[in-house]
Amino acid sequence: MTSAATSDPGVPPIASQKIAAAAQAIDPYNVSGGTDEHGNAVAIDYDRLVQEFGTQLLTPEHLARFEKVTGKPAHRLMRRGVFFSHRDFDKILDAYERDGTFMLYTGRGPSSGSMHLGHTVPFLFTKELQELFDVPLVIMMTDDEKYLHTRNKNEGRQKPGNTVEDFIAFAHENIKDIIALGFDPKKTFIYTDYEYLGGHFYRNVSEFESMVTLSQSFGAMGFKMEYNIGLPAYGAKQCVAAFPSSYPELFGLPDSRYPTWDPAAKMRHKSLSKIMTLIPCAIDQEPYFRILRDRCERMTDPHPKTALILSKFLTALQGAGGKMSASDANSAIFMSDTPNQIKKKINSHAFSGGRETAEEQRELGGNPDVDVAFTYLSYFLESDGELETLATRYRSGDLLTGEMKAKCIAELQSFVADFQKRRESVTDEVMRSFMQPRKLEFKGNPNPTKPAAPAVKEEGAANGEAKEGGKDGRGTKGERKAAKLAEKKAEKEAEKLASRQKAEA
Ligand code: TRP
Repeated sequence: MTSAATSDPGVPPIASQKIAAAAQAIDPYNVSGGTDEHGNAVAIDYDRLVQEFGTQLLTPEHLARFEKVTGKPAHRLMRRGVFFSHRDFDKILDAYERDGTFMLYTGRGPSSGSMHLGHTVPFLFTKELQELFDVPLVIMMTDDEKYLHTRNKNEGRQKPGNTVEDFIAFAHENIKDIIALGFDPKKTFIYTDYEYLGGHFYRNVSEFESMVTLSQSFGAMGFKMEYNIGLPAYGAKQCVAAFPSSYPELFGLPDSRYPTWDPAAKMRHKSLSKIMTLIPCAIDQEPYFRILRDRCERMTDPHPKTALILSKFLTALQGAGGKMSASDANSAIFMSDTPNQIKKKINSHAFSGGRETAEEQRELGGNPDVDVAFTYLSYFLESDGELETLATRYRSGDLLTGEMKAKCIAELQSFVADFQKRRESVTDEVMRSFMQPRKLEFKGNPNPTKPAAPAVKEEGAANGEAKEGGKDGRGTKGERKAAKLAEKKAEKEAEKLASRQKAEA
């Protein structure tokens, strides 16, 4: 164990054990740092995880490069090492510097109708990345994944409140929460799998499914033979969701779907397969994207390898051994909690890195590294100076546990209250406007080193606007011709962009 929680001899018993009796287990369906011989949770060993997964660590050089490319300070969650690992993050910065754009993709499994504080962290980070880079973002809600997973957990039985429709409803509630975090409707597309999958997306799914064997899927996800057949297949959907070619309409190109079946969308758009994608997510999702990256270049239209920026988990109130879980009410602060509930949960459940008594604390000092109140503050306090002062004072015994908790409670109450106010104005209509497949508006890098033509061109006919004409809804002959031409032109421009990316890869 290398984390501060286990190597510091002065910390309380929960974290002081050195021998793990149950091994750390982390994959998309399992997040546990393991347990010691007394059954106590052990902190997740991120160094070991990174080694096991073979991902790279984010270095000070990456942060400096980020600042240079965006002209803004690196995000606080990067500065504090919450987003701490990556794959090909440099290539995303290269692409942005050179060509001016890329696509952001993240997602959420709607396992219940309410989101907790831990769920908001990757979304807040993604939102701020979107603002910094001014690029399109897609958010996938995996109602299908959670249906399959939940039913599997219940030994194949469908419990009341766990029907397909229940998970769609959870997804809608979650989407409203996500919108309330402040995403820009002009450049954000949010969808649920049950409501969106089809068209070019589904073609990518089939192609991808055909490249993953059962043993590869089982190996990466820890599935067992008695699991339902949906789970091992599901991963293909989460993978190809990273391909811009799965969402032609967001880039002003037609898709082939009911009711238009646009003839200009007969083929998937090669041009879109050239655009790079960055996925910000918690590191438990990495096994999916390892499978993805190995196959990007084997698609009929090869895609560049998807880049990842990976975070640690927001720890449970009880300490660093697990993550907040929606199924354990005491482990999490919910976005629907009242100020009083927040106060109570922090005061009675937040694991403290302080001493038993105030006298001892004053004399010996506390350990902010395992202190949950301090950890939460590190996610939300923007000022590095203020955070450092809190840590120093805590260590020296000048600041007591109760004071640290009070500071944390005040921050969280205000974050949650602001959120709840915005959430009230997210109606069904607002939600559906984010879920409408439509051309997104984004500018990207204003000064790319090699000003590229935009990946796709805004041409009325290719934009789906001309499709009203003609009896069959396919447009008149002339309109179809115009659509074809516009499509050709867009493909050409993207080819140019792509050859530049290749030349410099
Ligand atoms: N499987 C994820 C979950 O259970 C949801 C998800 C889908 C996702 N696509 C993603 C998460 C991309 C991060 C990035 O929460």
